[in-house]
Amino acid sequence: MDIVDSQNRSVIRESGNAYPQSRRELFGLAAGGLTVLGSGLIGSAVFGATPTETMTIGPFYPMQRPLDQDSDLTVVNGIATHAKGQIVDLSGRVLKPDGTPAAGARIEIWQANAAGRYAHPADMSGVALDPGFQGFGVQLADAEGRYRFRTVKPGAYRIPDGRVRTPHVHFDVQGRTSRIVSQMFIPDEPLNASDFLLKVSEAPETLIARRLPPPPRAPDMLALQWDIILVDG
Ligand SMILES: [Fe+2]
Repeated sequence: MDIVDSQNRSVIRESGNAYPQSRRELFGLAAGGLTVLGSGLIGSAVFGATPTETMTIGPFYPMQRPLDQDSDLTVVNGIATHAKGQIVDLSGRVLKPDGTPAAGARIEIWQANAAGRYAHPADMSGVALDPGFQGFGVQLADAEGRYRFRTVKPGAYRIPDGRVRTPHVHFDVQGRTSRIVSQMFIPDEPLNASDFLLKVSEAPETLIARRLPPPPRAPDMLALQWDIILVDG
């Protein structure tokens, strides 16, 4: 399955490296963007708030979504073992540029497992899959625009050309009239400084989640908060 952008270029490939190879190509992709992105700057100029920066969808968007795709990625229906890795409580809000909630927005996330492996045929790393890790989740924002997933901290991974991606979670957020595809990063990760996509971000601080205090009963949990601002709503 391929997903194409506004210029009919494939942004999801069955195999191979869909990452931009250069800064120029990266910005070219960003400028074309998905179909909905063309109005982003207009929305921003009118309402003042800057929509969340888009990032490439990458090569690992699930070709076949798991049967189990709820908001808890640490448990898979029918699998006795839970996902390996540090538990992450990932929450935030989806907002319109005027700050009001984008109630009902559809939020998809997908990510590597704790060892840095995607459940995708294009991942040729040889790193082991984790059968207890769902890898993909979807939910609708509530009336206040809130979303919340339970997942594990994704591992860093090396792409075929040797570059290393810092831990991140992919997001595809669809409101009523606009859509943002981006990536969320984890605060205080040493690899953030060398990540080739984060380095060319125009506002990297807006792509890095905020760390919240873990709940007292789960001090080892990583609690993260990341808000997404849509282009229109
Ligand atoms: Fe990725």
